[in-house]
Amino acid sequence: MTRPGWIVAVLAPAAVVAAAAWPLTARSPHVDGTPAPAPEAAAPPAGPGVVGQGGCASAGCHGAPAGSAFGHEPDENRWASSALVWLAADPHRRAYEVLTENHEPTKGLATRMMSLLYPDRKPEDRLATKEVRCLACHTNPTLATATDAHSVALRAEGVSCEACHGNAGGWLYAHTGFGEQRRKAGFSPDVTADLYRTTGMAPLYDLGQRALACAGCHVGAPEGNGLPLRDMNHDMIAAGHPKLNFDFATYQFMLPRHWFERDRTKPGSKADPDFDARAWLVGRVAHAETACRLTADRARRADPWPEFAESSCVACHHRLNIHFETDKNKKERGPTYPTPDPAVRKLGSLPWQPIWPVTRAESFAALAPGPAAGTVEKLLKEMQVPRPPLAARATAATAADELAALRGRLTGLSGRAAFAAAGEVLKTTAAITDGAWDRDLAEQVYYGRTALERARIKGGGGDPARFVRVAEKLRLDRGTIQFFLPPDDAKAIRDQLK
Ligand code: HEC
Ligand code: HEC
Ligand code: HEC
Ligand code: HEC
Repeated sequence: MTRPGWIVAVLAPAAVVAAAAWPLTARSPHVDGTPAPAPEAAAPPAGPGVVGQGGCASAGCHGAPAGSAFGHEPDENRWASSALVWLAADPHRRAYEVLTENHEPTKGLATRMMSLLYPDRKPEDRLATKEVRCLACHTNPTLATATDAHSVALRAEGVSCEACHGNAGGWLYAHTGFGEQRRKAGFSPDVTADLYRTTGMAPLYDLGQRALACAGCHVGAPEGNGLPLRDMNHDMIAAGHPKLNFDFATYQFMLPRHWFERDRTKPGSKADPDFDARAWLVGRVAHAETACRLTADRARRADPWPEFAESSCVACHHRLNIHFETDKNKKERGPTYPTPDPAVRKLGSLPWQPIWPVTRAESFAALAPGPAAGTVEKLLKEMQVPRPPLAARATAATAADELAALRGRLTGLSGRAAFAAAGEVLKTTAAITDGAWDRDLAEQVYYGRTALERARIKGGGGDPARFVRVAEKLRLDRGTIQFFLPPDDAKAIRDQLK
């Protein structure tokens, strides 16, 4: 592990000397009296400044009482209570708090993780609330490296409005007039895009861009565009961090929705019934794209490489002696977990990225994927060996660019076409034989099937009860390091998901 550059910058003696002649116009010293670091180290990221949720949450803006909003599905007036819906019920609100010692449900987890990651540091020097590696995802990423008191205080808001929407410094006053500007321009999509771009807001109305915004924290992302590195790697998992089994469609569905889903470039529109199916499809590709960018960056940094979190957990975490167990052993230990079937997976190989399995090369067949399918196939060949070459970096970077093009195309699919394509992609998983059915794959297929089911229900068909049994099975061992599905469970789950 290398030492982050900012530590060196903060400790540089030159900063102490400079403080004596600190001009009044420069950044003020820290509240505790220590001089602020040299301006180039503390320079705020390019782009608009952070406002904080208080700037959005006044009653006349997005802070209308949320109470009545919870009673019904979001309607076109939901914007008025967006902030209070988030404050009242969004899991992102506690994202910073879980880094503290006292957050009840995860009590001590962050502290324990930090002591395992940094055994040589003094306890006061290994607070997760001061660790850029953690802050990068557990607050607005643009605040993670900030040193001024205001920014440091704003971190306590957790993953607040601007962590997803972009910093609102340029948006806050300007956007109240946007409705009129858009109307005058006949609601042209270009005008909407321009308004977002010129104010530095993330174009979350584009489903693909939205999925990328979530994946930046729920998968990870290289440093860039004023944001720090976001990398939750195997070191952190081994220290106790939950692994990131993200699925865009399902996670979006799980959030208390503080918005009315519609096409923001067309007045009076609302989401089509197949929205969830499209979200799943676009989300899979955005997820794979983000994963490839992270792989390329991990190979570039080689810190460490190979990075174990790139590979299927089951490849290493399985019992070695299963075939030699006696009946007595089995009885004592309860249900047994099979080692991977050698006919399915070559011994010594490490399957790549089981957490996004439905973008395996064969799954692309249904999508006319362009060059992406071939490149991903090449990447799999390079990655699925005990020591992937650093050259996988170039392949992963190319795959990411090609997946970006595919994502753009899928975002524009009509609802029905997206539903059909999602069904086809999921069908290919039926071809994956039982031996490869670990818990991660089952969970991802479950997410896909339920997204399709939600679309069916909105279209007037479907059966809400259909997946309850699978959910129960999958929840059995959530959060534990029990990666195999007991054979009986695997079969039951496959039957249900057909
Ligand atoms: C790449 C982004 C990322 C990084 C880096 C990261 N986390 Fe997380 N963390 C997450 C996400 C996302 C979740 C929620 C996972 C889920 O439920 O799917 C999470 C969950 C957690 C939880 C459990 C919270 C709960 O409510 O159960 C703790 C504790 C935690 N992180 C601490 C840390 C600490 C400490 C660090 C730094 C050593 C860190 N995280 C680094 C993204 C990250
Ligand atoms: C986890 C990410 C996330 C966070 C945090 C978040 N939002 Fe959003 N927000 C979204 C997404 C996604 C949309 C839908 C975007 C679209 O349709 O253009 C949205 C839409 C909105 C809308 C449009 C509502 C409508 O129906 O017209 C408003 C207003 C809004 N958010 C305000 C806020 C405020 C205020 C906060 C903080 C208190 C916040 N958001 C926090 C993701 C987020
Ligand atoms: C700046 C980083 C960041 C961004 C961007 C982000 N999240 Fe999160 N998300 C987190 C962290 C950290 C947690 C864990 C919070 C906790 O458990 O306390 C989390 C938790 C969640 C949870 C709860 C998970 C659980 O296991 O209960 C959902 C659902 C979720 N996020 C969905 C989304 C969606 C959808 C988007 C995009 C619209 C998004 N997130 C964008 C960092 C982020
Ligand atoms: C290439 C082999 C390999 C892969 C792949 C791998 N691990 Fe590990 N894992 C190890 C080794 C070796 C250790 C023990 C050394 C350590 O703690 O870093 C370990 C330790 C752990 C621990 C700590 C166990 C303990 O008792 O302290 C957890 C938890 C863990 N891994 C989870 C995962 C998850 C989740 C994945 C998939 C995302 C994964 N591992 C993928 C090799 C692997």
